[in-house]
Amino acid sequence: MAFEKEIEIRKTFGIISHPDAGKTTLTEKLLLFGGQIQTAGAVKSNKIEKSATSDFMEIEKQRGISVATSVMTFEYKGKRINILDTPGHKDFAEDTYRTLTAVDSVILVIDCVKGVEAQTERLMEVCRMRNTPVICFINKLDRDGKDPYDLLEELEEKLNIQVHPMSWPISMGRDFKGVYLLPDKSLNLFESNKQKKADEYLKIEDLSDEKLDLHVGDKNANQLREDVELVDGVYGELNKTDYLEGRVAPVFFGSALNNFGIQEMLDTFIQVAPSPRSRHTTTGEVAPTNSKFSGFVFKIHANLDPKHRDRIAFLRVCSGEFERNTNYAHVRLGKKIKFSNPYTFLASDKEVVEKAYPGDVVGLYDTGNFKIGDTLTTGESMFYKGIPSFSPEIFRELINLDPMKSKQLEKGIQQLTDEGLASMFTQEPGSRKFIGTVGELQFEVLQHRLEHEYGAKCRFEHRNIHKACWLHGDKGILDDFMKFRQSNMALDKDGKPVFLAETAFILQTSIANNPEIEFKTTSEVMAGD
Ligand code: G4P
Repeated sequence: MAFEKEIEIRKTFGIISHPDAGKTTLTEKLLLFGGQIQTAGAVKSNKIEKSATSDFMEIEKQRGISVATSVMTFEYKGKRINILDTPGHKDFAEDTYRTLTAVDSVILVIDCVKGVEAQTERLMEVCRMRNTPVICFINKLDRDGKDPYDLLEELEEKLNIQVHPMSWPISMGRDFKGVYLLPDKSLNLFESNKQKKADEYLKIEDLSDEKLDLHVGDKNANQLREDVELVDGVYGELNKTDYLEGRVAPVFFGSALNNFGIQEMLDTFIQVAPSPRSRHTTTGEVAPTNSKFSGFVFKIHANLDPKHRDRIAFLRVCSGEFERNTNYAHVRLGKKIKFSNPYTFLASDKEVVEKAYPGDVVGLYDTGNFKIGDTLTTGESMFYKGIPSFSPEIFRELINLDPMKSKQLEKGIQQLTDEGLASMFTQEPGSRKFIGTVGELQFEVLQHRLEHEYGAKCRFEHRNIHKACWLHGDKGILDDFMKFRQSNMALDKDGKPVFLAETAFILQTSIANNPEIEFKTTSEVMAGD
């Protein structure tokens, strides 16, 4: 297949949702369409059993499962679809944000009973920052949920995006009859069947057709006639450019558990969702069609076997062709590296890959060369931009409990923070290390892994830190500020100065008193900075 065609057929996306909205169920049904799995339940059985174990065990399991389901690839109607998994657990939010930098679009799953939940708002903020195109799937219509008009309003209000219904539900819960597909003018009748593989559609060009009353009952038919008239009047036709630029989100209603309403979404997805597009680098935009290979690492995963410290770096191919056993430039380290066993992911199977194209994700065995944000090229000195790092929410100081093992502790904490498990801020003099995370679980994991994989014992002491802010401004002004606030200053892993504000009040007054300095709670992970 020609190189351009390889790019065009690729659709790389992520599914995001608040936990329990139905992300796993939807993923599994999508794989059923691609014929990657034969029975419903295959992905699901991999999922963490909720609250059956302690949180810590959940994390260990999650580590194992998320390697297997990090990337799932399937073919559908001539397209090659890559689904990048995003962890649902809120303590892994940072991982999700980074994964979102490696996708070209997202599908957002909303539970119709619960509506838009807090975690969804945060995830959507990240999509909005990057103008990522979004399709919404309103799930669990077989349950009595919120009124569809209210749901659409909530989406617009809370997610700051315009919506565009592509289907319309006919009743809900026990009385759920199905959906009417607005652009296709056809009816998709609901039947509760967890193993169903495809929907069947009934063309109803004219809603006054009595066939409609026959299938859904007079009352529902009349309600639908009213709804469609209203919805058609308000929304009209979907403007594809508005979708591609992240301004408008097409919305579908369905029930993932019953494999209902997914096919029409997938069919629309393959028509409208973007193929790999140009991306920003430090030396300008790079088009996927550029013949020179380039890509970046957005995720690093530790090997589950603690005796082998190798890790898997997930590389998103952005331009050109990636080839096995070929020397590529690791830009940050300024050295050449080649990979003899890179692999791709077909459902849960790992396969050694000879070639990969823009949009693909390749797993690279890594013995400690990679950090999140690293760029590989054929030789050009450039970095991909826009991998966000957010201020952690919880801060602790790392205390070494075994001075004989200082080296191991140092190496361990370096490597584990390279994986993106937590952020590290170092304060001189004394090399005090403050570790910041988005959830409590990470501290347990760090402590356990430092002991079991590196033989280093430590504990974490609570520190009063409210936010970490990256400082931007004139060097002289920054230097003065840093000298004055020395006890609050530290360096992040890239050596960038960070102000550790003890309270929101201190942060506010510091901002007010230093108008020439910009205090940012996000930073771009850019190895080249
Ligand atoms: P997540 O990955 O977003 O966390 O959600 P997941 O797919 O695991 O779904 C969460 C729960 O919601 C599951 O129930 C799942 O079966 C259920 N669910 C998903 N889609 C639908 C739907 O369309 N209708 C209804 N009624 N339920 C749905 P569970 O009891 O937590 O797990 P399980 O015992 O069913 O596996």
